[in-house]
Amino acid sequence: MPKQIQLAILASGNGTNAQQIAEYFSGNPDVNVNVIIYNKRDAYVATRAEKLGIEARYYNKRSFMESDDVLSFLRERKIDYVILAGFLLLVPENILKAFPNRVINIHPALLPKYGGKGMYGHNVHEAVVANHETETGITIHIVDHRYDCGTTLFQARCSVLPTDSADDIAAKIHLLEKEYFPRVIEAVVLKKPMPKQD
Ligand code: GAR
Repeated sequence: MPKQIQLAILASGNGTNAQQIAEYFSGNPDVNVNVIIYNKRDAYVATRAEKLGIEARYYNKRSFMESDDVLSFLRERKIDYVILAGFLLLVPENILKAFPNRVINIHPALLPKYGGKGMYGHNVHEAVVANHETETGITIHIVDHRYDCGTTLFQARCSVLPTDSADDIAAKIHLLEKEYFPRVIEAVVLKKPMPKQD
């Protein structure tokens, strides 16, 4: 019987994506959310993990950037893929080397637009409004050593109305994230066809 694929989710904040991924794979014989790792003490994702019955581990920025603690833990847990779900640190080289093409991120814009340092969460949607964009979307991509630059796996789009606020866009983006991120992860880790945007 093939081994169950083990996921570690890395998050920094609210954790809606982490929750959606955990719920999607709950009871799945092929894929398991093994642990949620977070890097901000007060991140709400820790509360979500507790409610979901998934272990949450806190590591501060220093442990990520200047030690092998996180990598050792990922190895100990026999993690196969690292999923970034609103994780705002640059992934350190030791983890990228240990997980080649196995670190996956979601970004709330159509990369290469609105990517790079400082472009995360609400900042992205505010920039989209300021630039009078008529569409935006999500990008799911392989992570490399730069912010928001690795190979694109999937994009989905939504329209932006002239009357849309950054909050309105955030709501549309969250719907796309909920609809597609778990399914794209499933396609990648089980080597199945990618979903297509309806
Ligand atoms: C999500 O919209 C995700 O795409 C974004 O942060 C939000 C986290 O929400 N990620 C980035 O901006 C990464 N550059 P969540 O904590 O509720 O899942």
